[in-house]
Amino acid sequence: MIEHRTLRVALLGAGSVGSQVARLLLDNTDELSERAGARLELAGIAVRDVNAPRDVELPQELLTTDAHELIVGADIVIELMGGIEPARTHIIEALQSGADVVTGNKALLASHGAEIFDAADQVGASVSYEASVAAAIPILRPLKDSLAGDHVRRIFGIVNGTTNYILDRMDREGADFDEVLADAQALGYAEADPTADVEGHDAAQKAAILASLAFHTNVPLEAVHCEGIASIDAAAIENAKNAGYVIKLLATCEQLPGEGADGEAISVRVYPALVDREHPLASVRGGNNAVYVEAAAAGPLMFYGAGAGGRETASAILGDVVSAARRHIAGGVGIGESARGDRPVAPIGRITTRYQITLDVADKQGVLATVANILSDGGVSIARLEQTIAEDETGANRARLVIGTHRAREQALSDTVENLAASDVVVRVVTVLRVEGE
Ligand code: NDP
Ligand code: HSE
Repeated sequence: MIEHRTLRVALLGAGSVGSQVARLLLDNTDELSERAGARLELAGIAVRDVNAPRDVELPQELLTTDAHELIVGADIVIELMGGIEPARTHIIEALQSGADVVTGNKALLASHGAEIFDAADQVGASVSYEASVAAAIPILRPLKDSLAGDHVRRIFGIVNGTTNYILDRMDREGADFDEVLADAQALGYAEADPTADVEGHDAAQKAAILASLAFHTNVPLEAVHCEGIASIDAAAIENAKNAGYVIKLLATCEQLPGEGADGEAISVRVYPALVDREHPLASVRGGNNAVYVEAAAAGPLMFYGAGAGGRETASAILGDVVSAARRHIAGGVGIGESARGDRPVAPIGRITTRYQITLDVADKQGVLATVANILSDGGVSIARLEQTIAEDETGANRARLVIGTHRAREQALSDTVENLAASDVVVRVVTVLRVEGE
């Protein structure tokens, strides 16, 4: 039997993810220690309230409210508190004391990543964060290591489990938004403040992390275009279904070629979009995620699996812990970030995609011609048009137009939608959704 060196592991947080990490670490200590080449000793678990009820049974003597005391003397610190403070302070303190850090905190990395990676570089420690994007799915290590010799052109997919769970149940069962959000919270998918999921901020943080790694550049969170799913109601889901689509919250990171006065740039964006029901992304159910990566030499790659959930995410955290332990005993500097440039991030107006515009218009002669002229004047070409007649609340006939466009530039499209909204014949613009994945 080989006598292993003991590494002290401090865990900060015992919520949905932290409690599962603790349980798996305690249950599988021997096996994980063999793989790591060092005995992994869970030294303690910092929480806000040591008496709070927990779904997972944990040894009471390991719980403490003193994170600082736990960090001092730890070899590996796992941060699973979430949020910016005190997580940021604890991570910096851990790195400065020579510990390696493992975290799933995308909110912190997307906003304070540079500061944290600098602090790690200064002492030669490592910061691992596989769980921060798409939870259990190994996606960051492939981007950082396996694809380091290739050129990533585009990343595209579903990176938020909560919103996928909500949209999927609304689509399949006609379920009510608030009810399914409560279920997603009970399943441990949602952030402590679920508006981060619903408003797209969680997906935007993940998109910033993905784009930074894929394009070897700094992507400030503020540069990520972000729209959430709060405006997606039962009617929008039904309209999408009738037109052969499903609505998914998508994150896209892509390179844009130089065009006219616009130089080369990257686009990083999150919004709900229509996806053809036959597209593989349409069949991503529940809290799962799916991410496509298109690289110059490798071609298209797809990563799929659990995008949220305590036990699933714990798998990615423990993978990082084993790697950090190996590095800790082998010595040498931590695996740093690749060299990062400052590539410009294009405004949303520069992207080109297809759209579906739903309008309520007056049911009278000449309306279609007026709508078609406004679209044509804006440089937006119609690919498909459907009209249905229904009575409005006053009993008058009202026409609903669903217009599918050919590819158009976002700026031209949004200017045209403004002109449609201002026109006498348009009663209201019901929805404007981008069509992706074709
Ligand atoms: P939870 O809200 O369930 O748990 C947070 C834990 O941190 C709780 O145990 C809480 O203590 C503790 N905590 C919070 N603030 C403090 C503080 N100031 N001092 C001491 N302890 C504190 O979060 P999750 O487990 O869901 O998420 C943790 C991290 O993992 C987040 O960064 C999240 O974004 C990320 N993540 C989550 C995934 C998921 O599916 N849930 C997936 C991928 C990443 P107490 O229990 O006493 O309240
Ligand atoms: N709240 C996040 C989600 C957790 O729903 O995707 C995983 O990062």
